[in-house]
Amino acid sequence: MIYKVIYSVKTQKTERQKFNTGRISLDNVEKEVADWGAEKQKEIERLKQLEEYRKDFIGNISHELKTPLFNVQGYVSTLIEGGLDDPSINKEYLRRTEVSVERLIKIVEDLSEIAQLESGHLTLNKVRFDIMVLTREVVEMLEMKAHDKEVQVTINQPDKPFLVHADREKIRQVLTNIIDNSLRYSLEQGGRTKISFFDMDENILVEVTDNGIGIDQDDLPRVFERFYRTSRGRETSNKGKGLGLAIVKHIIEAHRQTINVRSTVGVGTTFGFTLKKA
Ligand SMILES: Nc1ncnc2c1ncn2[C@@H]1O[C@H](COP(=O)(O)OP(=O)(O)OP(=O)(O)O)[C@@H](O)[C@H]1O
Ligand SMILES: [Mg+2]
Repeated sequence: MIYKVIYSVKTQKTERQKFNTGRISLDNVEKEVADWGAEKQKEIERLKQLEEYRKDFIGNISHELKTPLFNVQGYVSTLIEGGLDDPSINKEYLRRTEVSVERLIKIVEDLSEIAQLESGHLTLNKVRFDIMVLTREVVEMLEMKAHDKEVQVTINQPDKPFLVHADREKIRQVLTNIIDNSLRYSLEQGGRTKISFFDMDENILVEVTDNGIGIDQDDLPRVFERFYRTSRGRETSNKGKGLGLAIVKHIIEAHRQTINVRSTVGVGTTFGFTLKKA
């Protein structure tokens, strides 16, 4: 009886069959019950973990949104309460309001991107292209920022083509995020970023190496989590959201490829990801 009940629960009553109850010993029943219990326990743990993750996520979102929202509220109130007529602050406060609103928009855009990626509905538009050319485009886009941060960006063998099969626009996002990080978390002086490509049988490995502030070993496994920022990163003047690498990882995994990071504080950081050769 016990065995039958367990079986029917396990098969969700959809595929009941006749059993040869004569062969079943109490030992068997006990083992089945224990296995079943262990399995359910695992499931409960997993659900609990998901619930924790969900709570953290909501907590993180509200925390991220609060700062720019309170700023907007502060500036707008000051303007309403007379600031609007004060030429020494009215324009400046409106400008600051604009900056905060832009940040809010960026956060919401990144979040909806992550939500879309996590729902697994991302359809990749894979094409054949030269990753070298794309990298040059991205570096050009970030030239101003590199100049401001006084970081020298170089591409190894910039004229050699490396053809890959991937979603060009999504990979542009990946490169932009990683190279942008290398500029943000660079040294105050003498910053260098180097982008290299390696031919690996079926794949091309892309590596972005910097000589920046580095990432502590304890932080390394966590930098791809949403909203995760290292304490070293927080100490810099950068207002990161901690979403860039989460998006990057999702995109690379949607391509069924891998991304990894290695870093030494005081030396620098290397992010590497693979793409399928075309
Ligand atoms: N090249 C790097 N050198 C040192 N630390 C880095 C580097 N890249 C990332 N990090 C650390 O990892 C954290 C997560 O990076 P991620 O790109 O996800 O977020 P972010 O740069 O803070 O914000 P954003 O969402 O705007 O990209 C950063 O806050 C920083 O602490
Ligand atoms: Mg970033």
